[in-house]
Amino acid sequence: MTRPSQTLGIDFGTSNSAAGILLAGSPHLIEIEPGEKTLPTSVFFDFDRRQPIYGTHANAALINGDEGRFMRALKSILGTSLMREKRLILGERIDFIDIISRFLKLLKIRAEEACYCDFDTALSGRPVLFHSDSDSKNAQAEKDLRDCYLAAGFKDVRFMYEPEAAALANHQHMAPGSLGLIVDIGGGTSDFTVFKLDGAGSSSGIDILASHGVRIGGTDFDRRLSIDNVMPLLGKGSQIRDVFGPGTSTAPNAIFHDLATWQKIQFQYNPDARRAAAELEKMAVERVPLQRLNTVLNEELGHDIAFAVERGKIHANTPAHPGARIDLRAVERHLGCDLSHDSMTQSLTPLAEKIRNCAVETLDRADVTPDQIGSVILVGGSSLMGIIESTLCQLLPEATVQRTAALTAVVDGLAMASATAFE
Ligand SMILES: Nc1ncnc2c1ncn2[C@@H]1O[C@H](COP(=O)(O)OP(=O)(O)OP(=O)(O)O)[C@@H](O)[C@H]1O
Ligand SMILES: [Mg+2]
Repeated sequence: MTRPSQTLGIDFGTSNSAAGILLAGSPHLIEIEPGEKTLPTSVFFDFDRRQPIYGTHANAALINGDEGRFMRALKSILGTSLMREKRLILGERIDFIDIISRFLKLLKIRAEEACYCDFDTALSGRPVLFHSDSDSKNAQAEKDLRDCYLAAGFKDVRFMYEPEAAALANHQHMAPGSLGLIVDIGGGTSDFTVFKLDGAGSSSGIDILASHGVRIGGTDFDRRLSIDNVMPLLGKGSQIRDVFGPGTSTAPNAIFHDLATWQKIQFQYNPDARRAAAELEKMAVERVPLQRLNTVLNEELGHDIAFAVERGKIHANTPAHPGARIDLRAVERHLGCDLSHDSMTQSLTPLAEKIRNCAVETLDRADVTPDQIGSVILVGGSSLMGIIESTLCQLLPEATVQRTAALTAVVDGLAMASATAFE
């Protein structure tokens, strides 16, 4: 007997992913991992077990110090030339199309097991702009993601803007005819949709007036905080003695910026980078910070630092948690740095300003003024940042701020729309 085929709604996120379907008129999210409705978009190629592991287990393997190669923020690589570069991992020559497609295949298989049906088609979320600086990279990113879905075994995939999906599922408390603004601040992008709650009862219940986005998210917050607080401890800004003559020069910034960037960390573990870092240490006026850089490259601790920064950010964002620190004991016993709420705000203000400008541009495109927006609906993990909420409240002082389940608002909408996505 052939099993029924359905469309699976998938939110493939920079930091977290989820999948769902419409069940008895409501979104039903699949437990890809037992008891969890979302899973980290993480992959760990386990060198001992000689296999890739995904999600929470991948994060745990990294933290545990298992031998292997860790990857996160894979979505940020879509649309770049790195996507189709083959690399040798666990004896196989694979590229990021293969890596992402295997992650998506895991979602497909788990969903099929859970729902006793085949998922031949997918409705995938996508940011309004994968890349803010180039139309061609943006188009290429969607093409790359489509290829990943096809390689994962889906026969077809359709895309929906992530904030529009969130709007579908998160307008319960609004009055008919009123205007809402979805603010979806995730790990990799910030996305906005202005919509009107339809009094006439259209099938979706809403009219989309405009959507817009910018490639800034929580991973960029982590990057900025790492560059400002952690990288100086590894030698950023250090003086390096010139090879010829008595002078000194500042250590080149590139390695520190790349080590602070989630999706670039894994590319720093190569002989050239290690040789260059060893040379810097040899010539450094003050050797200790550069010694740490060498430890990080040789022992592959870049992601441990990124997780430590992310944890520090979340602590510093919690008012009830004074004395937040970025704990760097993975690099050196007792190493770490304080991260006060004020210094975090200072580091992140330029990024929050760009996010604000994107919200203003979305309102312009919808041809509405800030005072016409009745509800601001904050979704996405980084919308929990105090600086985001305060920046948007300043922009829209009249609006009611609503919070919904930050990590599932988008997939709820995709699950709802999945039922009719291929009609
Ligand atoms: N309590 C918190 N306070 C601040 N930031 C948080 C909190 N919890 C999670 N985050 C941040 O939220 C981000 C992940 O959010 P989310 O899961 O919505 O992103 P995503 O959907 O995977 O990314 P995107 O939609 O951009 O592709 C991470 O950068 C994480 O550090
Ligand atoms: Mg998201």
